Amino acid sequence: FPLASCNTFGIDARARCYVRIASVAELAAALADPRLAGMPRLLLGGGSNIVLTGDFDGVVLHMAIMGREVLGEEGPDGKFTLVRAAAGENWHALVQWTLAQGLGGLENMSLIPGTVGAAPIQNIGAYGVELKDVLHSVTVYELATGRLRSMAASACRFGYRDSVFKHQDGKGLVIVDVTFALPTAWRANLGYAELAQAVAGAGLGAPGPADISEIVVAIRRRKLPDPALIGNAGSFFKNPVVSKTRCAELLAAFPALVHHAQRDGSEKLAAGWLIDQCGWKGRKLGAAGVYPKQALVLVNNGGATGAEVLALARAITDDVRQRYGVTLEPEPVFV
Ligand code: EPU
Repeated sequence: FPLASCNTFGIDARARCYVRIASVAELAAALADPRLAGMPRLLLGGGSNIVLTGDFDGVVLHMAIMGREVLGEEGPDGKFTLVRAAAGENWHALVQWTLAQGLGGLENMSLIPGTVGAAPIQNIGAYGVELKDVLHSVTVYELATGRLRSMAASACRFGYRDSVFKHQDGKGLVIVDVTFALPTAWRANLGYAELAQAVAGAGLGAPGPADISEIVVAIRRRKLPDPALIGNAGSFFKNPVVSKTRCAELLAAFPALVHHAQRDGSEKLAAGWLIDQCGWKGRKLGAAGVYPKQALVLVNNGGATGAEVLALARAITDDVRQRYGVTLEPEPVFV
């Protein structure tokens, strides 16, 4: 089965089998199917956070369970409005739908590619808001027992681009829907400097959630390649987190270093800046390249193989390590 249209990097790999999953019953049936027994499985949403390094000798389970609803208000004085969406829903479509219902809270995460079900896995985030900030709970299907259970946000062990679902003890869980707790009394989250500047520059009196969403969309369109036109998986590396001491040492040597203090005292460095400084912005290695407007995004300039993407990622990682002594970690999952 051709996977080129199932991964936003547009890598032309194949899978042995493909099953579209439109309900929990279909998921259970696929898992019980003797023809698929013992085959390696790849659970796929929008395919926006994977790098296919070759053909996949197994079954792709494409999560396409649909549905979304406003559940109602919860908490002291109806502090939150609960909204539930099924795993297969497109993330940005959900953001727009909540805004159309007059519900704010997701607007900073507008235009992130991918599906609702994939969002908790890497705790998607942008412009000062992470999924964990608005997530109430997820419903998971336990592969071992075939049972559904609800997991509160606190059980998901969210971290920066991380969750229990990326680790061994979460590997046997399939996310089937996600419930969000959106603040009933909305306030703009303008903690991210670039967004705050853009909002100020737009000259709106009192911007509402839909205004913020439009501004986020404009920023993203300006800086990030549209996967429909240029294959990519968003940020290719995580922003590395280093100790305060290490950051001070680096600053002494590189005064322009971009860094952000974290609540726990550590410092997050801008991987895009490190890569840019190493001269990689806009460069190519075979059909893989570094996006000319955002050095953190690797792109498929047409017909790139997973091996070419890996070679480019390795060359960048080596250069950054040599110059800054910092090891970049990839953000997407390699298959
Ligand atoms: N920078 C450069 N050169 C570049 C790119 C960036 O010098 O080529 C500098 C910028 O000047 C800026 C800093 O690096 O000072 C940060 O850049 P930016 O605001 O574009 O954000 P980012 O750190 O590169 C992160 C997320 C994005 C998210 C944005 C906005 C990660 C790995 N990436 O990118 O998420 O949209 O912040 O919040 O945390 C994704 O995960 O796929 C993704 C796109």
